Amino acid sequence: MTLKYLITGATGGLGASVLSYFVANLPASEYAAASSKEANRKQFEDQGIAFRVADYDDPSSLKTAFQDVENLLFVSTSTFDVEKRRKQHQSFINAAQEAKVQHAIPSLTSASQVWYTSLAFGGKGPDSKADVQQAHLLTEEMMRKTDLNFTSIREGLYVDAFPVFMGWYPSSSTVCLPADGKVAFTLRAELGEATARLMVRGGYDREIVLLTAQETVTFSEIVDIINETTDRQVQFKIVDKEEFLTVKADDEGGKPVAFFKALILWYEGIAKGETCIIDPLMEDLLGRKPVSPREAIRGFLKENRNYEWHQNYANRG
Ligand SMILES: NC(=O)c1ccc[n+]([C@@H]2O[C@H](COP(=O)([O-])OP(=O)(O)OC[C@H]3O[C@@H](n4cnc5c(N)ncnc54)[C@H](OP(=O)(O)O)[C@@H]3O)[C@@H](O)[C@H]2O)c1
Repeated sequence: MTLKYLITGATGGLGASVLSYFVANLPASEYAAASSKEANRKQFEDQGIAFRVADYDDPSSLKTAFQDVENLLFVSTSTFDVEKRRKQHQSFINAAQEAKVQHAIPSLTSASQVWYTSLAFGGKGPDSKADVQQAHLLTEEMMRKTDLNFTSIREGLYVDAFPVFMGWYPSSSTVCLPADGKVAFTLRAELGEATARLMVRGGYDREIVLLTAQETVTFSEIVDIINETTDRQVQFKIVDKEEFLTVKADDEGGKPVAFFKALILWYEGIAKGETCIIDPLMEDLLGRKPVSPREAIRGFLKENRNYEWHQNYANRG
């Protein structure tokens, strides 16, 4: 029997939000969750959610998982290693082609539809030099070379992850960055909901779409929000690249210097305006205004003045 939606990354933050929209709005026979680990089967099946193993490092698992699927959510993997990601994503695309993911758009009966979760550096454009965007641009290129129907969903930078984007820890007295700029930071749970609604809506074949909040915020403004909301006196300082790397050699989260070298390209992109682009699609899909970055950050810090984000710490995945 054909499965209408397969949600990879269902154990992760974004995939879990996509799945929870389906659980609340669609019959259970229409969707299944996927993870790279068989051990995760029970947690889904106990809730009445069908489960498939899809490990991007194991092409045979992908071939089996993608059988008779109409709409495949392709969650980009979480590694910062561009080459590793490229290989995993190529395996995914090869398997999707081989398995003939079935028609998402009723009028295109022989088409397949892959919904790829990309990133919003550079808006919908191809020019971002941000290191983190490179694997996404490569993946879009790989999909273009196939006859798959695909939509690349450029997901806004997670507002939830603001601590890692600005190197802020609850103990920080200063935030030092090599640049500042506007970022349309977007709530991950709302990105998940909008992604699910987009898949249900269908269309956008071989297109890039952009999901973002409708406002931007700068890093210096975020420091002001931290200070106002948590009664701190954190300073914001723009430093040159060398000083940035010297400060980060002693990173509280234990991230390696290579991470911060790559991050310099992110900040150059942010300073050039690569993350300030706002698109109305997310509001249209949600049927309401997305939560603004300021509102979201205030909310996180009011709930927990020592708010943290796991990717700020080398040993927390
Ligand atoms: N827009 C942003 O600001 C931003 C920020 C951070 C990350 N991201 C990107 O968005 C993606 C989703 O974000 P998230 O917050 O949901 O990340 P997350 O919570 O870290 O989840 C990552 C997901 O990737 C899956 N995964 C990891 N290795 C895999 C493999 N070999 N095969 C199949 N699945 C694998 C994991 O599932 P299992 O371990 O169960 O297989 C997990 O469900 C991330 O992976 C990353 O590419 C975007």
